[in-house]
Amino acid sequence: MPLPRGGAYNAGTMATDTVEQLHAEALRGLAEAADARALDAWRIEILGRKGRLTSVLRGLAELSIDERRSVGAAANALKAELEAAFDERAEELRRASFAATLASDRIDVTLPARPHRRGGLHPVTQMTERILDAFRSMGFSVVEGPEVELDYYNFEALRIPADHPARDMWDTLWVDETVDGRRPLLLRTHTSPAQIRTMEQQQPPIRVAVPGKAYRFEATDTTHEWQMTQIEVLAVDEGLSMAHLKGTLLELMRRLFGRERQVRLQCSYFPFVEPGAEVAVDCFVCSGAGCHTCHQTGWIEMMGAGMVHPEIIESMGFDSARYTGFAAGMGVERLAMQAFGVDDIRYFYQNDLRLLQQF
Ligand code: PHE
Repeated sequence: MPLPRGGAYNAGTMATDTVEQLHAEALRGLAEAADARALDAWRIEILGRKGRLTSVLRGLAELSIDERRSVGAAANALKAELEAAFDERAEELRRASFAATLASDRIDVTLPARPHRRGGLHPVTQMTERILDAFRSMGFSVVEGPEVELDYYNFEALRIPADHPARDMWDTLWVDETVDGRRPLLLRTHTSPAQIRTMEQQQPPIRVAVPGKAYRFEATDTTHEWQMTQIEVLAVDEGLSMAHLKGTLLELMRRLFGRERQVRLQCSYFPFVEPGAEVAVDCFVCSGAGCHTCHQTGWIEMMGAGMVHPEIIESMGFDSARYTGFAAGMGVERLAMQAFGVDDIRYFYQNDLRLLQQF
């Protein structure tokens, strides 16, 4: 039954639907609502408090009693029908979206698992362990010392007093604090203070290897870093000579770089050893012929070494006529660069996974 349009029947300016019109349009709209959002828009438009069905029902008041009866019955039937249709459509959409989720979220259990990344030891740590293993097997024990060190251990006790020109060999990072009221403090510039600390605590025969960080206040380049890892080696016993030093270091180099390696000792100066030496190994890339790795010299500088100065043996309370010692200090990063073919020392401290993943 058509409802009168406009006039008194319609409170607003919008034309009011007839029950039939609304019936047809509402059902079509409902069928077209493809998702929850469209469905909600439909509900507000048709069944909402200001919706089209509501305004039809409100408009009943304007009708004559007869019309009201028949149109009212039709409108109420439509309301029931549309509410039921809405519920049904809502359920249909809910099922459809559930089915879509099931289809898209499906886990294919036959797919290969994602690779699980495993951590690894840093190349410098690996190199440190290789070196320490070699020394352990030669009867050395591994000890450690503090990184924040007293001037006394880092310099004084190693025969490098405050005004000694040799201090220029180690640009020092000073620490503006005291420990037990003692100062001056510094970040150790080498692991050699461990020689003194060890001789204070042990009696000969002494054989220690001391790994640890050392720091230098200097500009960085491809072969220099302001932090580095060193391994100090100290042996004190009766009858030790330069030959024992050379034999020990030769054995180390052969284990690290192959049995055919040779070592070369060249005279050098460190205040705490006498004689002192710079130790080189023949280039394992060119075996001494000269190449890029060894800068055409055939040799690669590996560490400082020497016989513990007799004055230090004496000052530690040992008889220097009876006991002699040898010491060496090596830079682990330098050795790692050689062993792993890394051409810039700074790569080791940049935490770049492209480098680290290769180890
Ligand atoms: N400590 C020295 C350095 O860092 C190396 C060294 C150690 C030299 C032991 C001689 C003996 O340069």
